[in-house]
Amino acid sequence: MSTLGVQPGIMDIAPYVGGESAVAGAQQVIKLSSNESALGPSPAATAAYGDLAKALHRYPDGDCRELRDAIAEAFSLDAARIVCGAGSDEIISFLCQAYAGPGDEVLYSEHGFLMYPISAKAAGATPVTAPETDLTTDVDALLAAVTDRTRILFIANPNNPTGTYIPRAEMEHLRAGLRDDVLLVIDAAYAEYVGRDDYADGAAMVEAHDNVVMTRTFSKIFGLGGMRLGWGYVPAQVADVLHRIRGPFNVSAPAQAAGVAAVGDTAFTARVRAHNDKWLPWTRDQLRGLGLSVTDSVGNFLLVCFGAKADQGPDHGAEAADAFLKRDGIIVRRMAGYGLPDCLRITIGAEDEMRAVVGSLSRFLGKNT
Ligand SMILES: Cc1ncc(COP(=O)(O)O)c(C=O)c1O
Repeated sequence: MSTLGVQPGIMDIAPYVGGESAVAGAQQVIKLSSNESALGPSPAATAAYGDLAKALHRYPDGDCRELRDAIAEAFSLDAARIVCGAGSDEIISFLCQAYAGPGDEVLYSEHGFLMYPISAKAAGATPVTAPETDLTTDVDALLAAVTDRTRILFIANPNNPTGTYIPRAEMEHLRAGLRDDVLLVIDAAYAEYVGRDDYADGAAMVEAHDNVVMTRTFSKIFGLGGMRLGWGYVPAQVADVLHRIRGPFNVSAPAQAAGVAAVGDTAFTARVRAHNDKWLPWTRDQLRGLGLSVTDSVGNFLLVCFGAKADQGPDHGAEAADAFLKRDGIIVRRMAGYGLPDCLRITIGAEDEMRAVVGSLSRFLGKNT
C-alpha cells in the first residue's frame, strides 16, 4: 500500500461522471446527456480553431487579452474584471482553492451542480446543502444554513439539473442577508438561454459588491464544450487572487480564438436561442401530455420525473425508461447522483432528436402519439 499522504477531503470525492456518449452495439446515437448545443458551434468558431492548426508550437496569450475584450464588448462588461479558465469548472475550482479550506463550509442548494461539492472537498472544505422548494433554489433555506464557518455560497441560476431559476429580486435579497466575508458565486452557465424579464445574470451585482462573483461558459449556447473555455466576472481583488493561482497559460490558443469568433457571431447565437425557444416548450408539453412531471426549465434541458408512473412498479420508473431510450439509441442523463433517482435530464437537441425522444417515451409508457 502507498504511504503517500493525500490531502484531507480528496479521498471523499466521488469522481464526476459525465454524460455517456455511446450505446453498446449502436452505430449512431442521439446524445442528449450533457446539455451541449443543439446546433453545434458557430462555423466562424470552427474556422478560427482550424486557422490555429498552423501555429500549435506557439504558447497562447496568457492574458487572454483579445478574448476578454471580445467578451467585454459582447456583454457590455469591464474587461479588467474578466478571468478566463479551462471551462467554468476551472473557475469554480480556483474559487474553492482560494477562499475555502479545512474547517470551512461551502454551501449550495440540494440539487445544485456536482462540481461544487467536488471542488469544495478538493480544497479540504466541507460541502453543505440547503433544501429546495419545488425543485427551485430556496433563498431563505440557504440563509438559514449559513454558519460562522460558511465561506462560499454557490448558486447556479438557472440551476442544472432542475432548469428552474430565481428572479433578480430574490438574488438581491440573498446577498443582502449574507455576511461580507461570504463569497456569493452566481453560476450563470445557461444565462444566454433565459428569456424572462425578471432574470438577471448577476453581472450588475458583481459591479456593486465586493463579495459577488459570476461564472459563465462557452460550453452551452456557444457550443464549445470540447474546447474547455469559461470565465468569471469578479471584483478587482478576486481577479488579483485568481491570477495568482491560475496556470500562466490555462486557456489554450485554439480555445481563445474559437471563443472570440463564437462570441462575435451574434446571428448564430440568436439562431441557437430561437431553436431552443421553440423545441424546449414543445418537448416539455409533449412529455407533460404523456403524464410525466416536467419542471419549468429556462435552460436548454428538461428535468423529467416519473413520480406517479414509477408507483406502478419499477418497470415504469426512470431507470427502466433510461434503458428503453438506450435501446432506441437515445442517451439521456440519469439523476441519482443529484438526489433525483426518479428523474431523467434530457437536453434539447435537433428537431428530429426531440421527435425521437418523445416517440420513444410514448412507446415506453404504452401511449400512441
Ligand atoms: C451549472 C453549470 N455550471 C458549470 C458547468 C461547467 O461548464 P464548463 O464546461 O464551462 O466547465 C456546467 C456544465 O454542465 C453547468 O451545468
